Amino acid sequence: MISESTSPIVKHLVNRLRDAHTDAFMFRWLLKEITKQLLAESYDSLPLMEKKVPTWQGNFVGTFIDETRITCISILRAALPMQEGVMETLGDIEGGFLAMKRDEETHESRLYYDRVPDLSGKVVIVVDPMVATGGSLHDALELIQRRKPAKILTLNVIGAKEGVEKASAAFPDVDIHIAQIDPILNKDAYIVPGLGDAGDRAFNTPE
Ligand code: PRP
Ligand code: URA
Repeated sequence: MISESTSPIVKHLVNRLRDAHTDAFMFRWLLKEITKQLLAESYDSLPLMEKKVPTWQGNFVGTFIDETRITCISILRAALPMQEGVMETLGDIEGGFLAMKRDEETHESRLYYDRVPDLSGKVVIVVDPMVATGGSLHDALELIQRRKPAKILTLNVIGAKEGVEKASAAFPDVDIHIAQIDPILNKDAYIVPGLGDAGDRAFNTPE
């Protein structure tokens, strides 16, 4: 399932990311802020529980997100601010890391770091700002699915239509929550209009 945000606030924040004058500090802040908005939009995909807590007026029973069942996995590098956003809001969840780098010639992604905790029975939130060809997301989902989680959802900022649809077709049970779907990829497999190279813009590295 692909769920593109319709929130004008989310669209505003994405447009600020597109602005070439947005510096790295603000770029990371915007990624984090958009992620928090997407997390709120993904509430129906999250595990819930009824819990009794003591309050100043006696016991209170309410609906909570079951943070003990959630793991947030970021696809390095550009997803780091997104993971921080999720883990600031849901402070008791686990975190994991996959690092992938796209080959600039073939556009295929290569895994170079895998530090993911046990996922069996977990609800996994995968964060990555960009879905271009969809290769990185596809490979990450394949690897995660092999580890038998109960459910997978993704939070993404900008995706090219073809890449998002490719990932969704391969993993129809995954809920993809995305801020903005852009129309095309250019010949170098960059999203147009997109925002350029998210990792470089977030971490001030030359293109
Ligand atoms: C970016 C981005 C995605 C990937 C998307 O990472 O964060 O992971 O490209 O492209 P795809 O859909 O065609 O696979 P990149 O490989 O540039 O690594 P970086 O974050 O270290 O710059
Ligand atoms: N990775 C990015 O950071 N941006 C794109 O447009 C495509 C891949």
